[in-house]
Amino acid sequence: MTAPSRATAFAPASVSNLAVGFDLLGHPIGAWGDRVTVIRRDAPGVSIGEVTGVAGPLPMEAAANTAGAALLRLLGDHAPGVGVEVRIEKGIPLGSGIGGSAASAVAAVVAGNALLDAPLPVEALFPYALSGEAIASGAVHGDNVAPSLFGGLVLVRSAEPPDVVPLPAPDALRCAVALPRLRLDTREARAVLPKAFPLRDIVRQTANLAGVVAGCFRGDLALVGRSLEDVLVEPHRAPLVAGFAGVKAAALAAGALGCSISGAGPSVFAWCEGDAAADAAREAMVAAFAAAGVEASGWSGPVAGAGARLEEGA
Ligand code: HSE
Repeated sequence: MTAPSRATAFAPASVSNLAVGFDLLGHPIGAWGDRVTVIRRDAPGVSIGEVTGVAGPLPMEAAANTAGAALLRLLGDHAPGVGVEVRIEKGIPLGSGIGGSAASAVAAVVAGNALLDAPLPVEALFPYALSGEAIASGAVHGDNVAPSLFGGLVLVRSAEPPDVVPLPAPDALRCAVALPRLRLDTREARAVLPKAFPLRDIVRQTANLAGVVAGCFRGDLALVGRSLEDVLVEPHRAPLVAGFAGVKAAALAAGALGCSISGAGPSVFAWCEGDAAADAAREAMVAAFAAAGVEASGWSGPVAGAGARLEEGA
């Protein structure tokens, strides 16, 4: 069978860190995502043909673009000499904290893979998407790439070399996200973090991470809830998110199990027990952002959502 000459893939947004797993934990958000079309061209190399959607201007030089950089590496290793044009449809605003750069890189490699004479298994695409996302973030971390690519709740025990561990999401576990109209650059949000943390805080965070993971395996949402507290990163990033304290308080008052910054922010997520609680937390967070003078949109849904999918070119 000959490989198709064009393919389109969709990759979902994602919530990463999840309060207790900085650079380690994430899950998809089905409501938002990026779509990338990759088309074979005669001239070798990767060119960015167009960028449309909600993101505003993005680098048009392939090596500086998350989707382009990921494809350059994928094709360099598996189809040297092949040329492609890349069309990116951004459904995820730039600097929103829900994994937009990861989603573009993931959608690009899933679509690009479909053009290979011998497409790779999905696990093999992880390092390529990761290298694309690193262009935007300035660091290599797989907590957005892994859930966007594979779906479900995942632990990235190691990004390089890859060691991605799927975790079970308790049946009733739901997530609510508030996406404010603010922009926060991941590099800036990483730059505010201290280089070292007190050992007592590391011990607390480690206990909380273990509590969340154990709670997920046991289906014990009370344990998840009392563990879902970020003592390391959130205190340093909260001042970067306008209205964060009120948004978190509103989610907890609405009955959320826990609430923290999504990824590098400024989006905020809450984990909840059941659909009604997640809907209530979503509305409370959006209203609290509004009370702080920040327009926001919201989503609530399952934690174990689907990962990237090929839409054309299968
Ligand atoms: N884990 C990353 C961070 C996610 O919090 O900086 C942002 O891409």
